[in-house]
Amino acid sequence: MNYRVPKTRKEIFETLIKGLQRLEYRGYDSAGVAIDGNNHEVKERRIHLVKKKGKVKALDEELYKQDSMDLKVEFETHFGIAHTRWATHGVPNAVNSHPQRSDKDNEFVVIHNGIITNYKDLRKFLESKGYEFESETDTETIAKLIKYVFDNRETEDITFSTLVERVIQQLEGAFALVFKSIHYPGEAVATRRGSPLLIGVRSKFKLSTEQIPILYRTCNIENVKSICKTRMKRLDSSTCLHAVGDKAVEFFFASDASAIIEHTNRVIFLEDDDIAAVADGKLSIHRVKRLASDDPSRAIQTLQMELQQIMKGNFSAFMQKEIFEQPESVFNTMRGRVNFETNTVLLGGLKDHLKEIRRCRRLIVIGCGTSYHAAVATRQVLEELTELPVMVELASDFLDRNTPVFRDDVCFFISQSGETADTLLALRYCKDRGALTVGITNTVGSSISRETDCGVHINAGPEIGVASTKAYTSQFISLVMFGLMMSEDRISLQNRRQEIIRGLRSLPELIKEVLSLDEKIHDLALELYTQRSLLVMGRGYNYATCLEGALKIKEITYMHSEGILAGELKHGPLALIDKQMPVIMVIMKDPCFAKCQNALQQVTARQGRPIILCSKNDTESCKFAYKTIELPHTVDCLQGILSVIPLQLLSFHLAVLRGYDVDFPRNLAKSVTVE
Ligand code: G6P
Repeated sequence: MNYRVPKTRKEIFETLIKGLQRLEYRGYDSAGVAIDGNNHEVKERRIHLVKKKGKVKALDEELYKQDSMDLKVEFETHFGIAHTRWATHGVPNAVNSHPQRSDKDNEFVVIHNGIITNYKDLRKFLESKGYEFESETDTETIAKLIKYVFDNRETEDITFSTLVERVIQQLEGAFALVFKSIHYPGEAVATRRGSPLLIGVRSKFKLSTEQIPILYRTCNIENVKSICKTRMKRLDSSTCLHAVGDKAVEFFFASDASAIIEHTNRVIFLEDDDIAAVADGKLSIHRVKRLASDDPSRAIQTLQMELQQIMKGNFSAFMQKEIFEQPESVFNTMRGRVNFETNTVLLGGLKDHLKEIRRCRRLIVIGCGTSYHAAVATRQVLEELTELPVMVELASDFLDRNTPVFRDDVCFFISQSGETADTLLALRYCKDRGALTVGITNTVGSSISRETDCGVHINAGPEIGVASTKAYTSQFISLVMFGLMMSEDRISLQNRRQEIIRGLRSLPELIKEVLSLDEKIHDLALELYTQRSLLVMGRGYNYATCLEGALKIKEITYMHSEGILAGELKHGPLALIDKQMPVIMVIMKDPCFAKCQNALQQVTARQGRPIILCSKNDTESCKFAYKTIELPHTVDCLQGILSVIPLQLLSFHLAVLRGYDVDFPRNLAKSVTVE
């Protein structure tokens, strides 16, 4: 949305398309835009919709093929919306992609992230009123519903945001929505519940305020009918955000800061049920009901995220760049937190809750995918350093089981994006039961970081490749740092703490050493890339390495891969072993070394030809190996950070050799905001 900065349609397209491209990392299958008709068509007030299955690039090409749209036409105030979709209801195609529309004239168009769970009832109702649906999406009901509310309005001068307010009162589920309408030219209304949404603000001039006061309805309303009769406090200059003195201001609505960061780093995070409207160059936010816990204003925050941070640099894929960034990302996670001189750790986001955490009954660590593996990887060291029982849980399964949770539990939610629906639901579940909730996320301002009582930002920098790499190692370190902080005054643990802190200090250098094995790992990939299956086996501290390595391989190479606990070898997986089956074994010089040697014997006795990830100079394992990758040694509980990297690199090379798009694996999304 732009106010009083004339822009051509071409520039508007470019802004929208760039924004979508910055979000490509989330995974999607189709994309679309809606944009105003030409200025001289004001009487007709048309909205153009262009939608396309596939990549944003395909949509971009399509836009320039539309001869009905004059690219040079200039707009003084304009508002365009664009969306990438990842199918939840209905196959990926142009009709199902967003924006969805109210009717053939595009009177109302809407883009939506999330799921509307009562859409079938709404659709039935709207169909009974004569509305004809064209798509299979839940989103289309929203577009039709707003038209229904508009067509049945009681006064001519109803505002756009009032219409949206009435619509969301009928919606169940999760959503972030942005609306546009031919009846409200140049206006935009956005709202959210359960899905993230933020507003970027750009102005060269002073802004009227840095805090936008929230407007509330003058009375509490329970149903649509009575809403019609209530009035909102009047908008005046003090309740709106605008550039002082009638100067140019631009507003950008987005689900993720990376879509808009090249335009501005000044953002407002919307809360559930906020309704934000831009009209006449002014932004206002209102809510229907005032709750006691409500913050009565929304502040403009400044994000410390730079565009170059989210660009690929010299690497062929974001994933590869992120793997190679690990010496720095790991360092950034520890920066200002670990004091190597005094052997102390201070996590600012937890310090006020430490006493309460020390008194708890148990720790429950919850996540999905890679984030769950970070919990598995650190469970043993957390048990050792906190001397508390530690449960690690997959968020979906934790919820399926209705797991008992108590007021004296401390629940950790691990999530790179901070938006994963299952993890977020588990968080709310634990909060409802009175547990203390701790977020470990990479995304400042994300739902998980805002809804938890306290937490740690892992500071790994934006992660764009769908397959998570640097977030894993930083989550791992964050959990180890938590253990160290908990054990600060345990006399019996001092030597162990010092050993671990020394290990942390040397990690960035050791990671560089592991990364220098890239060529050797590439050669290994050349040998393996035509295989159908790959087993990864280990135990103890490195069981998580195997799970995570196998997940990376599955995600981006589409080979079958399984992480196997070596202790379970005799209980099934041994049947898979023969001359042909490729097996990777992770055998480190740690307390499980002797047991791993047993497993190695079992494998070679069945003519297996193991590729072994082992500690440098481990002649014993090397004797039985078909191939070895020798890794630098570190303290046992941190070794998993070094041993996972060769598997990250291997999966990357395998995927490239198999000809797949490493950053955007089929059927997967970076941020899974649906259950
Ligand atoms: C998706 C991604 C995974 C990620 C998982 C959890 O499945 O494809 O890479 O590990 O979600 O995401 P989170 O953002 O919660 O860490």
